[in-house]
Amino acid sequence: MSGAFAGRVLVTGAAGMLGSELLLRVPAECIGVGTDLIAGPAVTASGVDLSDRAQVERLFDSHGPFVGVIHCAAYTAVDKAEEQPELCAKVNVEASRVLAQVCQARGAQLVAVSTDFVFDGHGRRPYVETDEPRPLSVYGRTKLDGERATLAACPGAAIVRTQWLYGPRGKHFPRTIVGYARSTGKLKVVDDQWGAPTSTLELAPALWDVLRARASGVFHGACEGSCSWHGFTAEILRQCSLSSVELTPCTTDAFPRPAQRPAYSVLDASKLAALRGRRFADWRTALSNYLAAEPL
Ligand SMILES: NC(=O)c1ccc[n+]([C@@H]2O[C@H](COP(=O)([O-])OP(=O)(O)OC[C@H]3O[C@@H](n4cnc5c(N)ncnc54)[C@H](OP(=O)(O)O)[C@@H]3O)[C@@H](O)[C@H]2O)c1
Repeated sequence: MSGAFAGRVLVTGAAGMLGSELLLRVPAECIGVGTDLIAGPAVTASGVDLSDRAQVERLFDSHGPFVGVIHCAAYTAVDKAEEQPELCAKVNVEASRVLAQVCQARGAQLVAVSTDFVFDGHGRRPYVETDEPRPLSVYGRTKLDGERATLAACPGAAIVRTQWLYGPRGKHFPRTIVGYARSTGKLKVVDDQWGAPTSTLELAPALWDVLRARASGVFHGACEGSCSWHGFTAEILRQCSLSSVELTPCTTDAFPRPAQRPAYSVLDASKLAALRGRRFADWRTALSNYLAAEPL
């Protein structure tokens, strides 16, 4: 990617799994021209409520001007969201709308992160950006409403939908699986939900590229290939030399959860690959790169 991007960039949700990685992977082109990062404030951490326009205006006044904003802050507790739809909507819809309004008013390029949970999972080929979203859960519905609110308030914004994230920071599937595998020696994992495990080490540079390209519209950003959670587990165990662990496939019905998940939510990331001039790594390669950097 070419093109310098001079100025400050606000990363919201900077303490989260994805936001923290963005701060570690600022492209040299950005650093070289004086990009300065402001870690995004969480309501609880700093008292700034991103759904309150006056507070966001003050944030831009005191820490800006921002040439760009990468919006990672979100209500991400998928099951808990079923009991807290108002709070989930406040964070995923209202905060997204307000941030987009302020970005539009201040001329900041906006990249907002969204999810495969906007789809119902009835598809049988990877979802493209123009496929009809039909979310099954409160989380999915609020993320879709957040996408729409963002684009309505800031038509030049980019939305990047991703899925099955893991990375150096935070709680995630590979870390949980390795923990269980070591403590119990056996695992039962669902084999009827399909997606593409995506490392934040892969996604963070892609988000920087979208920002630097000043791209607008919806993009899918996920690793190449696909697997079930069971397939992902088998590969994690193999790469972590834990293949002796007993692994049994099961169906989603065996593990009822409050929020319904899409059965098949593989994202076709060709549009983003065309923008960047390169594809994401295959999910197995991305896992191996992650484990080389951060052994579990
Ligand atoms: N994780 C996945 O598998 C996955 C899959 C698809 C899409 N995504 C999307 O990727 C993005 C990043 O997700 P993530 O996994 O990095 O999430 P995460 O680890 O849960 O981090 C979310 C961040 O948002 C902050 N936040 C929550 N409520 C806030 C509020 N009201 N105001 C300001 N900040 C708030 C959190 O701060 P506190 O820690 O202080 O609460 C946290 O830093 C989200 O848009 C998510 O929907 C994630």
